[in-house]
Amino acid sequence: SMALRPLVAGNWKMNGTKLALKELAGMAEGYDAGLRGKVELMICPPATMLYLAAAAALGSRIAIGAQDCHAAASGAYTGDLSAEMIADCGATAVIVGHSERRQYHRETDADVCAKAEGALRAGLTAIVCVGETRAEREAGKALAVVGRQLARSVPEGANPDNLVVAYEPVWAIGTGLTPTAADVAEMHAHMRRKLVSRLGKQAAGIRLLYGGSVKPSNAAELMGTANVDGALVGGASLKAADFLAIAAAY
Ligand code: G3P
Repeated sequence: SMALRPLVAGNWKMNGTKLALKELAGMAEGYDAGLRGKVELMICPPATMLYLAAAAALGSRIAIGAQDCHAAASGAYTGDLSAEMIADCGATAVIVGHSERRQYHRETDADVCAKAEGALRAGLTAIVCVGETRAEREAGKALAVVGRQLARSVPEGANPDNLVVAYEPVWAIGTGLTPTAADVAEMHAHMRRKLVSRLGKQAAGIRLLYGGSVKPSNAAELMGTANVDGALVGGASLKAADFLAIAAAY
């Protein structure tokens, strides 16, 4: 595949208080010590930490992202956060459509698309997540499911500067299970074809991340797979040593 600048992003999910800024500082130190030329790093902490994390990351060039946003810019939506508010914190990206949001909050592809549009409107990079369930893979429907999610969740106007796609097979998240490199290659080639046919040849520059049980021991194989332009890491992004070891696999 075309050599895109790889992105290794950590999704802290609902983990982290201000004590975790220590891990962020450790990541910044390791990043500056030699990884910076090779790979982009991003941490997506809980929303409560966005301001502090963005301020802490300022000197280090580790990017900060949020884990979700509302589609609207402002309004009567108690408890929600807009993409503009996330940008105001100093974050530069937001994950939308993570399977945990799709599952526990009943987010549809249309919801995810609207949130991604909000991200683009606010000048953030949207990290759009897609991925099949175990039942869908066993039924031979993985490519069709992910193709449909992509078609419906990626907004008009998406380009390599404002869109990243993360393929996270639901059955691989937090389970220690990963697809074979061949299955990842097949899915990522499929996603690339779908994006190019929808958005034109510029879509060759959109980074396609793999997510789901990425850890230091499997990162090199996954990251060496064609059309895998980085990783979206959950559990192994909570500790600086693990996260840096994954990033160093490039
Ligand atoms: O968004 C990343 C995530 O869903 C993967 O989680 O813990 O399997 O790396 P984990």
